[in-house]
Amino acid sequence: MNRTLHLITKKSILPFMVIAIMFSCQKQKNNSRMNRKVDSLMSLMTIEEKIGQLNLPSAGYFKTGEAASSDIGKKIEQGKVGGLFNIKGAANVREMQRIAMEKSRMKIPLIFGMDVIHGYETVFPIPLGLSCSWDTDLIQQTARMAATEASADGINWGYSPMVDLARDARWGRIAEGSGEDPYLGSRIAEAMVKGYQGNDLSAANTIMACVKHYALYGASEAGRDYNVTDMSHLRMYNDYFPPYKAAVDAGVGSVMASFNEIDGVPATANHWLLTDVLRNEWGFTGMLVSDYTGVSEMVQHGIGDLQTVSARALGAGIDMDMVSEGFLTTLTNSLKEGKITEQQINQACRRVLEAKYKLGLLDDPYRYCNEARAEKEIFTDSNRAFSRSVAAQSFVLLKNQNHLLPLKKQGTIALIGPLADAVENVTGTWSVAARFSESITLRKGLEKATTHQAKVLYAKGSNLYNDAYLEENATPFGKTLHRDKRNADELREEALRVAKQADVIVAALGESAEMTGEASSRTDIGIPDTQVELLKALLNTGKPVVLVLFNGRPMTLKWENEHVPAILDVWFGGSEAGDAIADVLFGEVNPSGKLTTTFPQNIGQVPTYYAQRNTGRPMGKWFEKFRSGYLDVSNDPVYPFGFGLSYAQFEYGEIRLNKTTMTSSDSIMVSIDVTNKGPLDGKEVVQVYLHDEVGSITRPVKELKRFKKIKIKAGETQTVNFILSNKDLSFYKSDLSFGSEPGKFEVFVGGDSQHVKRAEFELK
Ligand code: NOJ
Repeated sequence: MNRTLHLITKKSILPFMVIAIMFSCQKQKNNSRMNRKVDSLMSLMTIEEKIGQLNLPSAGYFKTGEAASSDIGKKIEQGKVGGLFNIKGAANVREMQRIAMEKSRMKIPLIFGMDVIHGYETVFPIPLGLSCSWDTDLIQQTARMAATEASADGINWGYSPMVDLARDARWGRIAEGSGEDPYLGSRIAEAMVKGYQGNDLSAANTIMACVKHYALYGASEAGRDYNVTDMSHLRMYNDYFPPYKAAVDAGVGSVMASFNEIDGVPATANHWLLTDVLRNEWGFTGMLVSDYTGVSEMVQHGIGDLQTVSARALGAGIDMDMVSEGFLTTLTNSLKEGKITEQQINQACRRVLEAKYKLGLLDDPYRYCNEARAEKEIFTDSNRAFSRSVAAQSFVLLKNQNHLLPLKKQGTIALIGPLADAVENVTGTWSVAARFSESITLRKGLEKATTHQAKVLYAKGSNLYNDAYLEENATPFGKTLHRDKRNADELREEALRVAKQADVIVAALGESAEMTGEASSRTDIGIPDTQVELLKALLNTGKPVVLVLFNGRPMTLKWENEHVPAILDVWFGGSEAGDAIADVLFGEVNPSGKLTTTFPQNIGQVPTYYAQRNTGRPMGKWFEKFRSGYLDVSNDPVYPFGFGLSYAQFEYGEIRLNKTTMTSSDSIMVSIDVTNKGPLDGKEVVQVYLHDEVGSITRPVKELKRFKKIKIKAGETQTVNFILSNKDLSFYKSDLSFGSEPGKFEVFVGGDSQHVKRAEFELK
């Protein structure tokens, strides 16, 4: 480097260095204050009180397993509770905190957790839907708003983000995450952590995030919830770990262990996972909590009785025991018997107290109990308006033959289907704080949007399932679809009578809210038969049909894709979903969502994902014997990862690279022109994929490395630039070291993972 350049560089980084030093001094000061505070508390605590801090019972408002906790008020008085979760309302929280502060000996405030997953009372789209916006700023804002509402209501700890990579559409919890891709999943994970935690965890409007479920929960065998996962360490490090690590790097305050086992040891007792990787390798210093009865469930896993599994969980690194009360009831004995050490209890207790310190609770236990704030800041008109705009960004237009959409606000619209007016289902799974009755259904949204302009006729058309038993299983927690007593023929006849009067049919079909989420795995991921029969009958009328699909997972839509002219995937769009769907159907908002999971042709292809390995016998375009494929279907999905249409039409130019070779200390710029050829302004997610052509281990055929969501006016061309560095070419190798390898790389850019432009460069 020449001398002047060297000086300039030195000069220009000086202010940053000063800021960094100041920041690190402040951090050290805060840490030493925290240590003093925690030390002084711990010096006064009995061992039982320390163990009490590790106990996290559920307040019982919402139950997702067998609750072992009872008599919580008494236990708080006795110092046997460190925190509570799923209690709703600032006044209720205050009352519990008052017991801790006024009646327990140590007067240590409780921490209050909740499943604030995709919004609080103002609900946003389910996370899978939200991820389809590919807009990390927007996603961060949703987390910020969720934290503001939850913290106004007494909550200071949220069990989100859920970052489990999922490639198996059978698994119901695929709805709670960001899809199949490690890179996108990581960017969303860090955005959410930043959104919840803000810049200051002790501020009254921020909450501590909890990244979950650590780890690999999304790879449950056969897509069956809670099932075993078993994978190579290479796949863990390259594919499944990155989103958890990204959350840790973003400063997440807590981590929740997963239910599944890894290498034969349940995650909750897995020392390698919780301590070696999470704490020692990644440097996580926050609080580690088990999942709901995650500790006691290890008895069922078959690794010991409650005392043994509790000792193993503590030894592995768990700080808080959610609901099991295994820590509370057995750790004292284990200590006496030498099965655990006092140091281990102290360490866990310290982490719980540190979390409380960071949240500002040790300074002001009632910081988050502000009824006046709750009145003013929750479910406000502006929050709901924001949710409406977010929802519209999450929808994915899967098909739009002959520009059937957007619809005109005129004539008669027949709205038909069991999801059209299902108010309890609008917000989707894990919306425990939602005001169900105030959600906007599609029926309401369409009626409002067309007042005095078009007529909306409605018929239910079918039940969710023909079989009442299946419908009951799919509609727990009061999320009923108000089953109609009429049989399928009667319902369909009524729907056809309505349809015949209409100019266009909007069919609201798919899954109920609870057909995805926890313990909602399916072996058939199609639209239930009775609804498909209805759809066929509607198509037979010869009228144009728009399928508005409600779902929490990728579904098998081969037949629908072949026969229905327009399909809009709306997931579960949150409290304002109905208005948002109307916005998109009538073209007030141009759809811009892109899939973050692959939609397979049939269940037999699952698990399916774009970042596959080539194998030694890749299938060509047509079936060939002795190639990696199936006799009955091709390997293609119906809709690939990254796919989504717009009312605008985007055309990609050729890729331009600023060089054709780079070194590991270098970077390369990838540029492309994108033109909006359509008559409407629109947003496009420009995606960059890489393929490492030759490696010491086999590499995926494509891996997402960058994306940008850009607004392009009708007729406009924009040049989009991406910079890739050595880190983007790097991966974990057989010895789990991370780095790149010289050789050729293919770079692909396009609007989805299949329709791409290609170029090549070399890493020297
Ligand atoms: C079990 C779920 O796995 C987890 O995601 C949730 O946060 C806890 N229950 C608490 O409700």
